[in-house]
Amino acid sequence: MFKSSWSSPSNIAVIKYWGKYGLQLPRNPSLSFTLSASVSQTTVTCIPNIGKSNHVNIEFYLDKEPNEKFGSRISKWLDTLTVEFPFLKDYTLHIETSNTFPHSSGIASSASGLSALALCLCDLQEQISGIVVEKLEFYKRASMIARLGSGSASRSVFPFMSEWGFSPDVLSSSDEYAIAIEPSDVFKTYHDAILIVNPKEKSVSSSVGHSLMEGNPFAEARYKQANDHLALLLNAMDKSDVHAFGKLAEQEALTLHALMMCSDPSFILMKGNTLLMIDKIRSFRKDTSIPAYFTLDAGPNVHLLYPQEYSSEVHQFIETELRSLCHDGFIIWDKVGSGPSRL
Ligand code: PMV
Repeated sequence: MFKSSWSSPSNIAVIKYWGKYGLQLPRNPSLSFTLSASVSQTTVTCIPNIGKSNHVNIEFYLDKEPNEKFGSRISKWLDTLTVEFPFLKDYTLHIETSNTFPHSSGIASSASGLSALALCLCDLQEQISGIVVEKLEFYKRASMIARLGSGSASRSVFPFMSEWGFSPDVLSSSDEYAIAIEPSDVFKTYHDAILIVNPKEKSVSSSVGHSLMEGNPFAEARYKQANDHLALLLNAMDKSDVHAFGKLAEQEALTLHALMMCSDPSFILMKGNTLLMIDKIRSFRKDTSIPAYFTLDAGPNVHLLYPQEYSSEVHQFIETELRSLCHDGFIIWDKVGSGPSRL
């Protein structure tokens, strides 16, 4: 029997991926912070099959309970990976996974969960074949495999920040896998206070959202803008310009939601409290000049990004102005992290 255990984090995009083609390839490059508190811990045990099977056999447990919904999504993904991992036909995979963030937090577990599983698969391949690949190659492959499960998961396997999607401004960038980005020191200290406005699952899945970009009249302009924003963001990071960085983060978040609002059918994922929080964050910034800027995922929750050196002022602001707008006062205190680890 072979066994592998990995812990892998979620990530929050600053430059957003929205729109895809082919086999989960992005229409534009994206860039994210790797988080540290929101992680999935996954263990895969391979039990030999009697004979070969056409399908990948799995037993999937989330928080020690069998989970059919996630299990069937993972099963479909694994069925597409038998050329990459021929051993999948020879074993039944017993998969146990758990998340450090609550299931009903509105935080998608696909980036952390699928990257943790991709890392286990690459590790198991090495154990079973006896061929150990070089470390950089290992993470590149894990990123590519994770991408095939969920695009944004490709960015979870690197420390601090990660970029995915070809950009002429980023050496070695590729649509096939993400790469590590080494930011200047201040960005390694960033906090992400995740202000939970609504913990329910998204009403529109991201695959539906991506597909609606195909008919969106602003799609081409958006893909160009994302490339331009990435170049500007990298420049702001080189100069440690936290205000230029934050301004781009907010523009990206609002563009993502504007694209959803003007797609056909249209959908609005922000809630009233999302907008109230945005207003308060902008007023706080105007009054204090503290570089606290928001970003949004494909949902109503607000991610407040700020450097460590301002954490006491920002925490006080969150407690007095924002916590009451959160669902049951629910906040996840996250920050930039150092990437996945073998357990
Ligand atoms: O990885 P997916 O298919 O769930 O898409 C994620 C899209 C956003 O979270 C909205 C943006 C991003 O780049 O993470």
